[in-house]
Amino acid sequence: MFELALDKVQIEEKQGEAFKPFADDINQYNKKFYIESYGCQMNFSDSEIVASILQNEGFGATKNYEEADLVLLNTCSIREKAEQTIRKRLTEFKKVKQAKPAMLVGVLGCMAERLKSKLLEEEKLVDIVVGPDAYRTLPVLIKEAETGQKSVNVLLSRDETYADISPVRLDSNGVTAFISIMRGCNNMCSFCVVPFTRGRERSRDAHSITNEAKQLFEQGYKEVTLLGQNVDSYYWMDEANDEVITFGKLLERVALINPSLRVRFSTSHPKDITDEVLLTMVKYENICDYIHLPLQSGSTRVLQLMNRTYTREWYKAKVNRIREIIPNCGISSDIIAGFCTEEEDDHLDTLSMMESSGYDMSYMFFYSERSGTLAARRFKDDVPEDVKKKRLKEIVELQGRLSYQSNQQDVGKTFKVLIEGNSKKSDTEWKGRNSQNKMIVFPKENYNYTIGDYVVIRVTDFTQATLIGEVIYQ
Ligand code: 5AD
Ligand code: SF4
Repeated sequence: MFELALDKVQIEEKQGEAFKPFADDINQYNKKFYIESYGCQMNFSDSEIVASILQNEGFGATKNYEEADLVLLNTCSIREKAEQTIRKRLTEFKKVKQAKPAMLVGVLGCMAERLKSKLLEEEKLVDIVVGPDAYRTLPVLIKEAETGQKSVNVLLSRDETYADISPVRLDSNGVTAFISIMRGCNNMCSFCVVPFTRGRERSRDAHSITNEAKQLFEQGYKEVTLLGQNVDSYYWMDEANDEVITFGKLLERVALINPSLRVRFSTSHPKDITDEVLLTMVKYENICDYIHLPLQSGSTRVLQLMNRTYTREWYKAKVNRIREIIPNCGISSDIIAGFCTEEEDDHLDTLSMMESSGYDMSYMFFYSERSGTLAARRFKDDVPEDVKKKRLKEIVELQGRLSYQSNQQDVGKTFKVLIEGNSKKSDTEWKGRNSQNKMIVFPKENYNYTIGDYVVIRVTDFTQATLIGEVIYQ
């Protein structure tokens, strides 16, 4: 069971590799770009903004980097391993560039922001470096790079939200889409590089968010995920109606677009998630019963060093409140093993919190020091690697058991599932998710369902990662 679960951890680390843009009408463009995204969902969403900016410049997306005039990597800096993966990828592009010197290679996102022009010197094969708030300047930077200059823009902004840019959906299943509702983060968790690479927190105009969701629904999309590093601190002043739009209100506005448009969101911060949000979730059937509520550590002492600003008891109370208001809510978490000064007792506190929270799923990592962060400046990365690995293994094993138990409890239950596509294993099976974000696979049989349909499924079996079911209602 452990092997399987550890695989999952590794998949999270390099999830971006699978992200290949599609291009159905590539020939209408005179130039081609290829983009790969790494890391969090926000990066995937940003790549769709970049695609829109490039399309206006006459670039069409291609899935094949060898035929691209411009190759872009939208990068992640959250852990050392993420950066290593990207460095390796850059050296792979070197061969192509040697055969085709006119091809431009650009690094976008957090690694661009963190390493700035150092990237041009370190990786001699990079022509363009653009930080997360500077994508509007890409056309100018590309023109500069075409003349042989190296181009960099890593300026962070206090107000850039790309609100007016309509993302070009890349590699889309036509059913589910991300909508970015805010950028940056003000939280300053001591281990985290994001406040430095993505800058200050700012919320996007609520009207532009609801308009984007409406357009997606009109195009046939059935599910939107509202994205932000800390969605609960969303704040927008609707001057026209003299109304403050909190995250709860924004959720409501999106939910009201249409009852058959599902709404999800990520990420929630345990210190900020409000009853208003929980009560709004209950009020609208189309707001999914699922919350990603990163714990990071179950030890109050470690949480304090992490600057998470909540205690173990506070977190527990939040989980209880969620279960009280939304009894069937799916809850997932992020956990870090081996943060600075972590002792065995702290680790045991993490395991017991995982158990008492009963997570359906977790993303699990061992601590990776990032230079410039509060932790790197203040604390020693003093937990030996073998201890970090041993603790992570225990965390992964426990999560395996929790996921198994959670899935076991679903056998015999029925769920409304949104069909997202063929199952990975067979095109005689559909896959889709229930409100709690669990993947359910079921045989197509002779039913006339298709991608984007809702269908009621009874769960008949399960694995640690997937529920297996059958259609019970036509
Ligand atoms: N080391 C390990 N994990 C980290 N995360 C963020 N920074 C680090 C780090 N330096 C994890 C946190 C966060 C998730 C997105 O990545 O768990 O919630
Ligand atoms: Fe990083 Fe903490 Fe902000 Fe999440 S909330 S992006 S972990 S600083």
